[in-house]
Amino acid sequence: MTSQPIRSAPRRLTLDALRGLLQDEEAAAPHLGGLRSFNHFLVGELDKCRALPGCTMLDLGASIHGYALEGALDRGVALYEGIDFDVVRHWGEDSVEITGPDGRLGRLRQMNAEQLDFPNASFDCLLSISTFEHFHHPDRVLAEMFRVLRPGGVALVSFEPIWTCSYGHHLHHFGALSDLVPPWSHLFLSEEQMRAVLARQPWPADAPVDLDGALQWTYHGDGINRHDIRRLKTYFEQSPFEIDWLCPLPDEAPPERAAVAAYLARVLPYTAEELLTRGLSLLLRKR
Ligand SMILES: C[S@@+](CC[C@H](N)C(=O)[O-])C[C@H]1O[C@@H](n2cnc3c(N)ncnc32)[C@H](O)[C@@H]1O
Repeated sequence: MTSQPIRSAPRRLTLDALRGLLQDEEAAAPHLGGLRSFNHFLVGELDKCRALPGCTMLDLGASIHGYALEGALDRGVALYEGIDFDVVRHWGEDSVEITGPDGRLGRLRQMNAEQLDFPNASFDCLLSISTFEHFHHPDRVLAEMFRVLRPGGVALVSFEPIWTCSYGHHLHHFGALSDLVPPWSHLFLSEEQMRAVLARQPWPADAPVDLDGALQWTYHGDGINRHDIRRLKTYFEQSPFEIDWLCPLPDEAPPERAAVAAYLARVLPYTAEELLTRGLSLLLRKR
């Protein structure tokens, strides 16, 4: 992939050509297979809520690899639009079109989910996977989602980790260094205290960031939003959508961690159940 933006005509490739690229990527980085399967799984879940063949779908904070796009076109979506901040970085272009069988079209476009460049009521269904722990203004995104969805349409949202769960610092992006951070400690250690805790442990040789980088990511960076679980729930509850379901995704932490959560619930302003909720899955509906 080039990192040089070329803002000419959108790049076009077939779905089969995209699959070839994905196979090459996966051969080089096998962990990507899990993300691809998870995207396909959630497209399948959306298909159960709203039959996808022939419909128009918008994916907010889309897989820039095209995983949900692939799953959507395979399930007969007529038009899939995936928008993300990172399309240019990944593809070197701000728009990529993938043509599937029977005139189906998938498109990945550089766009901010808070300000969608689509007319009102353009989509039959919406998808957003692993994004609401990143969006800084979930209320703005939800307002835009409501605007571009047709009446009767649904939105499937699933995300983790929430800031208030045991690994809400999100350092797992950087591999083994995440294991150096005691569960939930980002909620009660100041930056300087965290520095001291991390500095007394050997730093993993293959860590892609140094200590300063890890502290910057955790306490200041804009890669995550640091909204606690209550605030996130409130964003959804106060949005114009009807909520068909709002399911907590339980932390898959070892059972002894429940005792730690019970203790922390006495010293932090969260219940043990909230601390043990790693994410949320929601189905939203526009009447
Ligand atoms: C963890 S990734 C999830 C990608 C994909 N949905 C998946 O499950 O593989 C989160 C994505 O959200 C994107 N993102 C965060 N804030 C955004 C915003 N305001 N507008 C568009 N994309 C955003 C990031 O660029 C990133 O690609």
